[in-house]
Amino acid sequence: MLALDMKKEINMGNVVVVGTQWGDEGKGKVVDLLTARSDLVVRFQGGNNAGHTLVVEGRQFIFHLIPSGILYENKKCLIGNGLVVDPEVLLEEMDKLKEAGIEVGPERLSLSEKAHIIMPYHRAVDLARETAKGKGKLGTTGRGIGPCYEDKAARIGVRAVDLMDPDVLKEKVEVNLKEKNFLLEKLLGAQPLEAGPILDSYLAMGEKLAPFITDVSVELEQAVKDQKSILFEGAQGTHLDVDHGTYPFVTSSNPVAGSACAGAGIGPKQLHHVVGIVKAYTTRVGAGPFVTELTDETGDYIQARGKEFGATTGRRRRCGWLDLIVVRDSARLNGLDSLAITKLDVLSGLENLRVCVGYEIEGEKVEQRPASLGRMAACTPIYQDMPGWQDDISTARKLNALPGAARAYLDVIEHVAGIPVSIVSVGAGREETIVVRYPGD
Ligand code: GDP
Ligand code: IMO
Ligand code: MG
Repeated sequence: MLALDMKKEINMGNVVVVGTQWGDEGKGKVVDLLTARSDLVVRFQGGNNAGHTLVVEGRQFIFHLIPSGILYENKKCLIGNGLVVDPEVLLEEMDKLKEAGIEVGPERLSLSEKAHIIMPYHRAVDLARETAKGKGKLGTTGRGIGPCYEDKAARIGVRAVDLMDPDVLKEKVEVNLKEKNFLLEKLLGAQPLEAGPILDSYLAMGEKLAPFITDVSVELEQAVKDQKSILFEGAQGTHLDVDHGTYPFVTSSNPVAGSACAGAGIGPKQLHHVVGIVKAYTTRVGAGPFVTELTDETGDYIQARGKEFGATTGRRRRCGWLDLIVVRDSARLNGLDSLAITKLDVLSGLENLRVCVGYEIEGEKVEQRPASLGRMAACTPIYQDMPGWQDDISTARKLNALPGAARAYLDVIEHVAGIPVSIVSVGAGREETIVVRYPGD
């Protein structure tokens, strides 16, 4: 009994971190922070469309595939079956870490044998489709994410385990290329690809990755038996979810918390706390509806102060006021237990702030974000106006060190979302954080 109770004090249980908006909420920073209290960090969906930025002791690290826990020496990082993995990007990330003095061996990193592999034809189809769509493009990251998930659902995908089997890989690549080359050449007007060079490079990468390829679900089962604490790192955001997001302006996976189970190979009873990351304002990269978007100088101010450029593609992020309808939908869709508010410091210096507390369509109040794109376009925001604050808040480490107006801003978020705030981030650095209470405490 005693051992169990003691464990509870230091073990925060299994926590899922998800984005509540359209991605780039600061998930990487919060995952890095919570890794201190976890034993394993697992990614469960998406691919290298993600860009998660960590700033530790003044050094910036951006991860696209490797879980954000990798900077801690004794933590195990795992890439679950729910991801689509570009092996070239994964190997590059490992090399970059090596250059930074962090050796990533199989004791630090596992790749699920069931994860799907992004092939050159996925990237080619992604880019050619976007080009063909012209003005109506989705604004994807061009990394082949959608086409790879399509092949997974079509049951023709290449999985990590296939990289170690030359015969299976050859068969799959040749069969797939027939279809993809037809699509590329005949429909999209792009160059066809050859099987030979693809096979050579993917088998070589498979050899390098072989020591890391394992059954992630079995590793997690053992961790649960050993009462270890698992942190699940979401990518993208709830409103980019292929089911629940602003379809079709979404990604091709499910970033919601429930997806952690299917994408890592663990049962739902093993998830103990879900943290929703909420950026103190709203951003989105790529096309799609954005009710609170600011195209004026306030939007420019937030974009510049927040350095809102995509971590993956370098694109300027669209900025707007905090949309609490979006956050409240996310509370429901993820079963959030607490909120981590990030980038509150970016709002310093604005005289007045607005938060969206409802939508209106032709004079009628709407409580949830409509599924129809047409109705979404007709939505106008209902704002609550609030006073801003002028002080630099990046040195605050306690809630009561924040100006009253900033505390009032947090209160409105808690009130409208109906979820308590556990963490407030006031700067990019690991230490620039107010922990109200640790998830699971
Ligand atoms: P993610 O994709 O959700 O992990 O978020 P990104 O890393 O793409 O974007 C968040 C950006 O904001 C990164 O550059 C972070 O270093 C930075 N950031 C995170 N939290 C804070 C914060 O509280 N204040 C400021 N000023 N920057 C932050
Ligand atoms: P993180 O994990 C922000 C967006 C793209 C595009 C749409 C579809 O850093 O929060 P895709 O390449 O996935 O087919 O593109 O989704 N998108 C993101 N936006 N943050 C991300 O990840 C994103 N991953 C995809 O810009 O609009
Ligand atoms: Mg990002």
